[in-house]
Amino acid sequence: MKHSDSAGLAELDKRVLWHPFTQMDEWSPLVIASGEGNFLIDVDGRRYLDGVSSLWCNVHGHRHPRLDRALADQAARLAHSTFLGLTHEPGIRLAADLIEVAPKPLTRVFYSDSGSTAVEIALKQSFQYWALRGRPSKQRFLRMTDAYHGDTLGAVGVGGIDVFHRIFGPLLVQSIPIPSPAGTDGSATLARIEAELESRANEIAAFIFEPLIQGAAGMLVHPPGFLAKVADLCRRHNVHLILDEVATGFGRTGRLFACEHEPSVEPDFVCLAKGISGGYLPLAATLTTEEVYSAFLGARAEMKHFFHGHTYTANPLACAVGIESLRLLRDETLPNAQARIPEVSAALARIAKLPAVKEVRSVGLMVGIELRAAADRSLGVEVCDRVRNHGVILRPLGDVIVWMPPLSIRPDEVALLERATTAAIQELAI
Ligand SMILES: Cc1ncc(COP(=O)(O)O)c(C=O)c1O
Repeated sequence: MKHSDSAGLAELDKRVLWHPFTQMDEWSPLVIASGEGNFLIDVDGRRYLDGVSSLWCNVHGHRHPRLDRALADQAARLAHSTFLGLTHEPGIRLAADLIEVAPKPLTRVFYSDSGSTAVEIALKQSFQYWALRGRPSKQRFLRMTDAYHGDTLGAVGVGGIDVFHRIFGPLLVQSIPIPSPAGTDGSATLARIEAELESRANEIAAFIFEPLIQGAAGMLVHPPGFLAKVADLCRRHNVHLILDEVATGFGRTGRLFACEHEPSVEPDFVCLAKGISGGYLPLAATLTTEEVYSAFLGARAEMKHFFHGHTYTANPLACAVGIESLRLLRDETLPNAQARIPEVSAALARIAKLPAVKEVRSVGLMVGIELRAAADRSLGVEVCDRVRNHGVILRPLGDVIVWMPPLSIRPDEVALLERATTAAIQELAI
């Protein structure tokens, strides 16, 4: 494709589109034409390492032959039919596969299309469960102060990132903020949770948070053992534990699910999306227990069932790719990610020594590089703009540079990520 096509597409984009989380007044489009392995290629043929795995969802790289084949085979049979009142093989088989690898005691899968909807569903199922079990006062949710669980109103209601969420305050469900344990030994946060649960467990349906590391909050890492202690507190006070593994799931932390790092944890709900389809198609799943599921059973006339569903729930193309993605993850990609983690840690140790870097934080291949803030500058944006000249796509969270590469990243690509990030930071002379 020629440069004029690139300019023409960019110009058309500016005329007809409105992009997510983007100040359109200050944005210039980079038009992506194709993907190859861990790289994206723009319409002028320039190649970029996909350093944020296409918003944290790509697992095995782009155009993986096994995923492409699974997609094409399914497309030759059925692209879509509803899951409301009908079912299909890819939806059934993926659910069975998820249950097989999911933490105990999760036995039921409810599909949807995004991380936000997976969260909405967990909140609504928890709320309705308590009403059905004769505990209608349990209506509120505990969440971390700087939580991020998506952009639909229910998910925003359990969010706490001021810059994204404050304006929508009047529209939201009520939730109770708990200070994040990041950077502490967790004891103050645990004491606060215990106090909330002791004084008002009868008002609280569930505690929702991201296990081990809060992604969009800026890659905030929780202290070891914190998750298991929260799980224990929730269990003792009869409050559901909802784990949002939308970002941490499917190998990102070095295990299939982050909660596997603390194996005693038995969540009531786990929210999955992003990597569930290898980063190919919109798909999400809310997993829950037989205890929750059984509360919704009864005669149709009792109206106990869960009134929630989306047109594309359990899309067969997405489910077929999801089945193959899970196999590939176990056969190849998770072992590859585990082998890369020490290399990424070594690179981070070097980056941490740059004068502009305040702190590096990571769990597995989920990395935040926090820059020292500078007045009147958006350093995260500046570094991520500049890193493109070195052949890498990154996207910041405020002053935090994020690395979330595909789990299929190779050693030479880890080196490129380090080289490009270091050069971009040094060029800005910060
Ligand atoms: C932890 C977490 N939960 C939920 C979401 C929302 O997912 P989606 O963008 O697919 O709605 C995200 C997205 O980044 C996330 O990181």
